[in-house]
Amino acid sequence: MSAKILDGKQIAKDYRQGLKEQVESLQEKGYTPKLSVILVGNDGASLSYVKSKKKAAEKIGIISEIVHLDEDTSENEVLNELERLNKDDSVSGILVQVPLPEQVNEQKVLEAIDPAKDVDGFHPANIGKLYIDEQTFVPCTPLGVMELLDHADIDLEGKNAVVIGRSHIVGQPVSKLLLQKNATVTILHSRTKDMHSHLKDADVIVSAVGQPGLVTKEDVKEGAVVIDVGNTPDDNGKLKGDVAYEEVKEIAGAITPVPGGVGPMTITMVLNNTLLAEKMRRGIK
Ligand code: GUN
Repeated sequence: MSAKILDGKQIAKDYRQGLKEQVESLQEKGYTPKLSVILVGNDGASLSYVKSKKKAAEKIGIISEIVHLDEDTSENEVLNELERLNKDDSVSGILVQVPLPEQVNEQKVLEAIDPAKDVDGFHPANIGKLYIDEQTFVPCTPLGVMELLDHADIDLEGKNAVVIGRSHIVGQPVSKLLLQKNATVTILHSRTKDMHSHLKDADVIVSAVGQPGLVTKEDVKEGAVVIDVGNTPDDNGKLKGDVAYEEVKEIAGAITPVPGGVGPMTITMVLNNTLLAEKMRRGIK
């Protein structure tokens, strides 16, 4: 049986329509959400990612600005920009695109974002809240993954969920979100012995390592839901996921393509969190 394709592009489109309506209702109350993105340097992938976020924001009525700083900008200058945006009452949400050039300490910068404007959910205060199940900003890719799982019609309670990758941006927070849904969660990483022995009983697989072809049909149980967070450009610049899509889709119950799976959902969740930031500071539910 061929898997249900979790069409991130379409799911994102529908979700953004709902967000657009919420933005309109906020505007009727006199509030317009604004997203400010800091980009340091000229990395091609980061630049196109940041432009996509701006375009998507504007399409649903969120004001968006890119603060584009030179590659050789000092850490202090980045911190000064952040302080300005933290204080600027017109700004609802702030996002600093990573990676940053080596002269800028990434952690120091992320910790300088006002936690109430931290739409990426990277500030330690927000990470801490996530881990004690308090409402907070949740990193956007993990949020997008959970939304896709919702569309897979799977009740996660008691299911075996296996996450490949333990990054702070994806692997660890998505594991926490799966745990909140009462899944039994296993995290695999570069030191894991015998990955296959863990994957073969997985009802849900979330792969987020950036290693094309890592997950093959031999790894996947019949009917499992497979979410592919990998997006590694090949020699022709074409994005490749971690999962051997063509063969795995023949046995999985549901699967995300790359591109067009998790990617559009990540951007959608940036918009979601910007709207949430605006609502929270205005005391609107
Ligand atoms: N670089 C790659 N992914 C992300 C993300 O989700 N947020 C930010 N700020 N930078 C990134």
